[in-house]
Amino acid sequence: MGEALAERLAQEVTRRRTFGIIAHPDAGKTTLTEKLLLFGGAIQLAGTVKARKSARHATSDWMEVEKQRGISVTSSVMQFEYDGCVVNLLDTPGHQDFSEDTYRVLTAVDCAVMVIDAAKGVEAQTIKLLEVCRLRDTPIITFINKMDREVREPFELLDEIESVLKIDCAPITWPIGSGKAFRGVYHLLHDRTLVFRPGEEKRVAAEVIAGIANPELDARFPAEVGAMREAVALAREALSPFSLGEFLAGRQTPVFFGSAINNFGVQEVLRALIDWAPPPQPRDAGVRLVLPSEEKFSGFVFKIQANMDPKHRDRIAFFRVCSGRYSNGMKAWHVRAGREMRLANAITFMANERAIQEEAFAGDIIGIHNHGQLQIGDTLTEGEKLGFTGIPYFAPELFRMARLRDPLKAKQLHKGLKELGEEGAIQVFELEGGQLLLGAVGVLQFEIVAERLRSEYGVEAIFEPAEIHTARWLVYPDEATRARFEREQALRLARDIDGNPVYLASSRYNLEVTMEKYPTVQFRATREHR
Ligand code: G4P
Repeated sequence: MGEALAERLAQEVTRRRTFGIIAHPDAGKTTLTEKLLLFGGAIQLAGTVKARKSARHATSDWMEVEKQRGISVTSSVMQFEYDGCVVNLLDTPGHQDFSEDTYRVLTAVDCAVMVIDAAKGVEAQTIKLLEVCRLRDTPIITFINKMDREVREPFELLDEIESVLKIDCAPITWPIGSGKAFRGVYHLLHDRTLVFRPGEEKRVAAEVIAGIANPELDARFPAEVGAMREAVALAREALSPFSLGEFLAGRQTPVFFGSAINNFGVQEVLRALIDWAPPPQPRDAGVRLVLPSEEKFSGFVFKIQANMDPKHRDRIAFFRVCSGRYSNGMKAWHVRAGREMRLANAITFMANERAIQEEAFAGDIIGIHNHGQLQIGDTLTEGEKLGFTGIPYFAPELFRMARLRDPLKAKQLHKGLKELGEEGAIQVFELEGGQLLLGAVGVLQFEIVAERLRSEYGVEAIFEPAEIHTARWLVYPDEATRARFEREQALRLARDIDGNPVYLASSRYNLEVTMEKYPTVQFRATREHR
């Protein structure tokens, strides 16, 4: 490759940061997103992201959600520049939007920011999302939010993160007081205090007091500073010091305290992303590792979104570039289909819309319009037969049996569910006897599928609750075990859309007992896309 191009690629890769925010609903993901975008100059006004969020959630009516799709496409990825870096923030939908997409987005990031509500600690959705990050050892930065409220003890919170999420905590900042008496944070690495001042101004640089022993701290915060000094001394003794290597390996998380709504502590998180979070890394493409600075373009589809007009089956495939350079109008090789595809007018995601970008590099996301040619997990290259791995299906937690109002429409139902299953909107399992079972991780997935079956396939389907706790993909050690398992467990077996055997557990207990009974059979909670 030409030296100039090689140098350019290396530069562009080094300055990219691609991350997602993981949080339980209400912890402050939207607020933090907004403040990060303000710092990045991507939006000018506080309230912009918030307004989008309430527009999305003002109604649970799916047709309304449909109308919002245009918005949700553009807010799915937000790109901005900060201090010479190009930052890609991928939205991880929560609340009622929570779906398998939320999980899949995490396969396309290089780092995650975990937001914890300081009053609530580790919550259910945080646990699930962190488990997904674990699959790829994604480095995690922790932001403990809402310190301006009455909250829990910092040590207790860190202890909970360590024990529940099984990740070491390295506090970078330590809070001084909380609630009405929240005074700021002490920075353990810089040995200085950042003074808290409530307010929503953009880019308020916090006032700084140097040194932990500085008498100014005693003069200003006589009631809080003693406890802070003691706690910091204890934290330095009892908790791990920050290690870049441990963080990058996904074993340790640097922890920041702050208040997103007051724009306090947010800049430190952004600094950590710029200074510590990894640029795009080499990725496993089956036959070999692909380096991000390779000249040839490659990447994979991690999410499919049906577009505004469902009648035309117009979809946008969200594609993570893994190497080389995307340029508008280029031709790419669609590995699964074995043919060429022109990438014209792909969507790029500059959040401030200053420029329509004509190119993208490793770490960037582009949105490719297509009519169903692209599926989740598909790889595009410049001709090489690569197949990026690591975009899994996740064991569903919610199940419904699909039934028809009009039994004559069985064929359409099968076709519709098969296609929606391939697109990744829902997981479809076939039971013995041909009945179809749907699995999802978020309830909205069922609503969306019912509506799309009606509008795109003319099928009225009824979804009835099914008494299933979870599903596991089965891997048998040998033929004899397979035959025995299938004979004895016939009533709890199904096949997924690709014909893989699946065990449907009626309860957690049922799963445990069955796993004990067949110790050589593997029960997998995830499965890779083809
Ligand atoms: P989410 O996207 O994770 O669901 O959370 P979001 O940012 O929407 O925040 C949830 C609620 O928490 C919001 O209040 C928000 O204003 C509040 N919040 C976020 N950060 C802080 C903080 O640092 N301190 C305090 N005290 N509150 C914070 P809401 O009442 O649900 O919405 P709104 O009426 O403020 O819009």
